[in-house]
Amino acid sequence: MCGIAGYIGPKPADQVLIVALERLKYRGYDSAGMAVVNGELHLRRAAGKLKMLADQIDASPVDGHCGIAHTRWATHGPPTEANCHPHLANGGRFTGAVAVVHNGIIENHDHLRRELIEQGCIFQSETDTEVIPQLLATIYLGDSTAAGDPVATVRAALARLEGSFAIAAIFPDHPDRIIAARQGSPLIVGRSRIKDGRREMLLASDIPALLPHAHEMAILDDGVIVDIRSSGAVFGTFSGVPVDAPFKTIEVTADAVSKGRFDTFMEKEIAEQPEVLARLIESRLRGEALVEPDLGLDLAAVNHIVFLACGTSWHAALNGKRYLETLARVHVEVDISSEYRYRNPVASGGTLVVAISQSGETADTLAGVRLAKAKFIPVIGLVNVVTSTIAREAAGVMPLFAGPEIGVASTKAYTAQLTALYLFAAQAAKAKGLLSPEAERKLVTAVRKLPGQVESTLKNSESAVIEVADLFAAASDTVFLGRGGEHPTALEGALKLKEIAYVHASGYPAGEFKHGPIAQVTAKLPVICLCPRDQLREKMLSNIQEVKARAGRIIGVGQADDRELRDLADLVLPVARPDDELLQPILSILPLQRYAYHVAVRRKCDVDQPRNLAKSVTVE
Ligand code: F6R
Repeated sequence: MCGIAGYIGPKPADQVLIVALERLKYRGYDSAGMAVVNGELHLRRAAGKLKMLADQIDASPVDGHCGIAHTRWATHGPPTEANCHPHLANGGRFTGAVAVVHNGIIENHDHLRRELIEQGCIFQSETDTEVIPQLLATIYLGDSTAAGDPVATVRAALARLEGSFAIAAIFPDHPDRIIAARQGSPLIVGRSRIKDGRREMLLASDIPALLPHAHEMAILDDGVIVDIRSSGAVFGTFSGVPVDAPFKTIEVTADAVSKGRFDTFMEKEIAEQPEVLARLIESRLRGEALVEPDLGLDLAAVNHIVFLACGTSWHAALNGKRYLETLARVHVEVDISSEYRYRNPVASGGTLVVAISQSGETADTLAGVRLAKAKFIPVIGLVNVVTSTIAREAAGVMPLFAGPEIGVASTKAYTAQLTALYLFAAQAAKAKGLLSPEAERKLVTAVRKLPGQVESTLKNSESAVIEVADLFAAASDTVFLGRGGEHPTALEGALKLKEIAYVHASGYPAGEFKHGPIAQVTAKLPVICLCPRDQLREKMLSNIQEVKARAGRIIGVGQADDRELRDLADLVLPVARPDDELLQPILSILPLQRYAYHVAVRRKCDVDQPRNLAKSVTVE
């Protein structure tokens, strides 16, 4: 959480940095700020959405060509202007000696703060971050051998910091340098082509913030410091050993990170699902056959899988378990990363950990990956961002090919995760000799129809979704019920509604509802019942009867021609029927994504930036 950006080049730094922050605001958006060097440090900071900072810069631009910027998701101290980054060194001769932006947590900040106050530093915020510029200033202006040298100063300060972080610092004495370091939070250096003998150099927490200026990037590893100047970047370890960080061409385009013809990223990303799934599916097929993913392991030998994930990715994992058990007969456990990492999981031969993460940066999932690796359990990552830490630390990667997901609510990554897990299960089944050539052909045909079915479901369900949203947008509670593969859909539908429309919502396995939660049912409670034509439909119809008998308002999700469902439900959100019912949850979630969106709009919520959240959860 929190986004960092930096720029050195011929363009006005404030203009480049405000666009970079726009691209990073999914990482946190409760306040933002920037510092630009021009003789001295010029600071602009504003609490609230990024627009507050943009307005401030419009009214009072900062003239300068080297700067750092930050968009915040508060951890230590509320989102006030005083707590905004960048933070400056303060107190007597230290004042204004350095500015710092930081992503992560400094665990020993209390101890450092007391020590720095004794040395004359004056603190102005409640953040853990502020100890960093103060510490840097005391070293830079001190009498050690690091004094006066920005890289040596940062290196000496890093030796005192505990926790996980990415930081960037600028010193007014060195007006064309940014010194940055990474220990646990992502950081990428970007560079443009050489033009008129000069380059633009950029720094960011994520690739979109480097666009459109940079055409190449180098990813910092943990424990690396970079000295960025207009002439290039020099990388070294915290202890001073030079590091070769190769620059690679950036594949993401600026178009992929803009809203295009849509008002929100969430709408754009929901609409992109047919093309995302088509791209993913074709990457895993050759002709009529499945291609085994290149994961550097023998899938036939895997007899136990542990899925690690959080939030929406955890919901995808719940269906992944069904896929692997049904198709490949593999024993699967699904673990919430923040729980797994604090247990002492048993490792046995034949176990494989699969970390599922859109961002590939989720702190708890990453910690789970590291714990598994420490126990010599092979780990693979199912990730969307292939440059992410999880992708780089896992032994093998299954990419989602979903393109940048910027809306805080995960939509296209979820359906891509389900599709990727289905294909993975089929590939494991094939490797184990459990998929006949005929079954493989049928499966490939079924999965290839999916993008078209996603498209038709989005189109055909929209008017009913709007009708239901008009009826129930004001409801303070909503229940989602599903069985089998639709239980995760119920959980995911409820999560979408909670996070972007702030409606209290719960998802239950429908058979469990009568064991307590059914007491909530009143004539005012919308109960969204996932009841497509699958093997549990009859059971689900009985569960719907139980709710209806208690006067609950039933919204069915199922096939348009299902007369029984139509008779029971107040309204039906129609979904297409796939050839293989295991694929049904990929279609059933679509009207629920749109429902959450429409309810959020009617409740005047900020769809892409819901309160209290950030997209990439890099703190535990
Ligand atoms: C909900 C949502 C979150 C994420 C969770 C894990 O819409 O986006 O629940 O799914 O924070 O994130 P990743 O998948 O990036 O590890």
